[in-house]
Amino acid sequence: MPKPIVIRRGTIAWSLLTMSKNGRRRRRVTLSTPPVLATTAIPHNENSQRAYAKRFRVFAFREFLLRSFFFPRPSSSLMSSGGAGAGITVLDVAGGKGCLSWILRNVDSVNSVIVDPVVPDHRRLVKSVNFLLDNPEETRLRSTEGLSTHQPLAKLIPRLVENCRDDGGGVGGDNLILRPTSPSYMRIRVDSVLVDMLREVVVVDSSSSSSSSERDALRSWDQYWHDARIYDDARQRVRAYGEVGAKYIASDYDDCQIIDPRRALEAFRSSDLIVGFHPDQATEAIIDLALLLKVPFAVVPCCVFPREFPERTMNGKRVRLYDELVEYLRAKHERIRTTTLPFVATEFARKVVLYMLAEDFA
Ligand SMILES: C[S@@+](CC[C@H](N)C(=O)[O-])C[C@H]1O[C@@H](n2cnc3c(N)ncnc32)[C@H](O)[C@@H]1O
Repeated sequence: MPKPIVIRRGTIAWSLLTMSKNGRRRRRVTLSTPPVLATTAIPHNENSQRAYAKRFRVFAFREFLLRSFFFPRPSSSLMSSGGAGAGITVLDVAGGKGCLSWILRNVDSVNSVIVDPVVPDHRRLVKSVNFLLDNPEETRLRSTEGLSTHQPLAKLIPRLVENCRDDGGGVGGDNLILRPTSPSYMRIRVDSVLVDMLREVVVVDSSSSSSSSERDALRSWDQYWHDARIYDDARQRVRAYGEVGAKYIASDYDDCQIIDPRRALEAFRSSDLIVGFHPDQATEAIIDLALLLKVPFAVVPCCVFPREFPERTMNGKRVRLYDELVEYLRAKHERIRTTTLPFVATEFARKVVLYMLAEDFA
């Protein structure tokens, strides 16, 4: 289980959680108006230096998701048990360290499952959260959009506190306890083989074929999962994180890993939204998967990988450039929409979003 975050008396989070004058706990929490700062005001968030920073770009994607898709709130008990609840389940394909899923889960109460060969690692994010909780003035400063000091995470601290507070623990004492939870994750590549395997199961499931073909399809899935899943390799982890890091990851995240093939299958089949932010080689498979399962998706392509995907062609020409990749992907369905995220695009900070809403499948 991840460690709880303990909030000291007098910090910003403490003030957010303490009682209002009439003795009732506040329902909505908002940060007070930020102080006027000596820093030069910049007219638009696009120009904020922090908004350029690589690790902040995903926050723009989160805002797009919250604006564009419907997220009913799941019940808290189902969230804490890792279930989808009455809310929706997002598949965060190629989620990498899992920042987006951690924020969706702990700030927005959205159940998000990471699908990426790498083990998620939220240590840096949690460290930033702790810093912001311990430094209320700095949090106020960084919450202000349009300043060079803007940090998207700072603005989310009140919602994080609201969502993750442990009501049973510590309110009224010297400490407040926050219990953020780690999202579930599957260590598998999302590629054309996975999509084909899922197609077999989905097609058998939806046709009126015999139970023996259903059994065969499930058996093939189990075998595929067994062969394709990236197994834990303790030595590899020690190399990547050092011994202490490896222990930390093993103890904090392993409970969240989906290992059982049928649970994995269920996670794919019950997904309500598939997202991919700069998902490298998984880009095309995310769209194919969403079209197969007929679920909304949003993907922000980044690299083209022409050598790895020589079979991609547009108008008889091989897909080699970014714009060609976007066109190639758009051609997969006439209702695919496009928009752009509000940060400055560079070769490595691509900002075009391809997406489909639930109504586009009607
Ligand atoms: C550029 S990183 C982006 C990570 C994360 N979305 C973010 O914005 O921080 C690309 C990620 O894609 C993952 N990846 C590459 N190919 C993949 C595939 N076929 N299926 C799933 N993940 C994949 C890599 O492991 C890596 O974590």
